[in-house]
Amino acid sequence: MIVAIDGPAGSGKSSVAKAVAKQLKFRHIDSGAMYRAVAWKSRELNVDLADRDRIAEVAQSIQIEFIPGEDKRDVAVDGKIVTSALRQEDIGKRASQVATQQQVREILVARQQEISQADNVVMDGRDIGTVVFPSAEVKIFLDASPEIRGQRRHLELQEKGETPNLQRIIEDIRQRDQEDRNRKLSPLRPADDAVLIDTSGLELAEVVEKVLQLVKAKLVQ
Ligand code: CDP
Repeated sequence: MIVAIDGPAGSGKSSVAKAVAKQLKFRHIDSGAMYRAVAWKSRELNVDLADRDRIAEVAQSIQIEFIPGEDKRDVAVDGKIVTSALRQEDIGKRASQVATQQQVREILVARQQEISQADNVVMDGRDIGTVVFPSAEVKIFLDASPEIRGQRRHLELQEKGETPNLQRIIEDIRQRDQEDRNRKLSPLRPADDAVLIDTSGLELAEVVEKVLQLVKAKLVQ
C-alpha cells in the first residue's frame, strides 16, 4: 500500500508521514530530503545550478540512505550523515531550484518508485499523489496559512538552538510556495482524488489520527 502525503513547506507533512508510518509499521520516505541531498551535494562540489548536466550527474550518482532511529531518523549522503545540514533554510531554497530541473526530477522519481516496490510506504513530498504514485491507495494534501507554517518552521529552528527571524521565514515560505506552485514541471497541487486537510488549528496527533482513519478505511475495503 502507498500512502501519499503532499503539501507546502511547514504544512506538517514530514512529521505526519513519520508518525503514520510508525503506527502502521510502513516505511517512511521523505522525498524532499532527496531533493535537499542533491542541493547539498552539488553545493559541496561547487556545481553551478545553471549547469544542468552536472546537477543531473550528481542526482544520478549520489547514494541517499534513510537510517531509522528511535525518535530521530538520519539521512546519509554518500556515507556521511547530513541530517541537520539538509534541513537548513538555504538548502531548502536550493532544493526548490534543483527541483525545477527535468533530469533531476526524472532521476529522483524513478528512485522513489523503485524503493517503494517491495514495501508498504508512506511518502511525503509535493508531487507524490500526482506524479510519483498517481494510483496510491491513500492521498492526502495538507495545508495551513503561511503564518502558521512559518511559526512551525521558526519553532523547529529554535529547538535546534538557532535564532531565526520569523518574518523572514514567513517571507521565504511564501516565495518557495510561489515557486513550487507555479513551476512548469510537477507543480505543487492536490491530486483530484486527494483528501484535503487544513492543519492550521489542529495538533499533530489530530492530523495523524485523521490520516490513520483514512488508511484503515481503505484496508477494510
Ligand atoms: O520540509 P519542506 O516542506 O520545507 O521542504 P522539503 O519537503 O524538504 O522539500 C524541499 C524542496 O524540494 C521543495 O521546496 C520542493 O521544491 C522540492 N520537492 C519537490 O519538488 N518534490 C518533492 N516530491 C519533494 C520536494
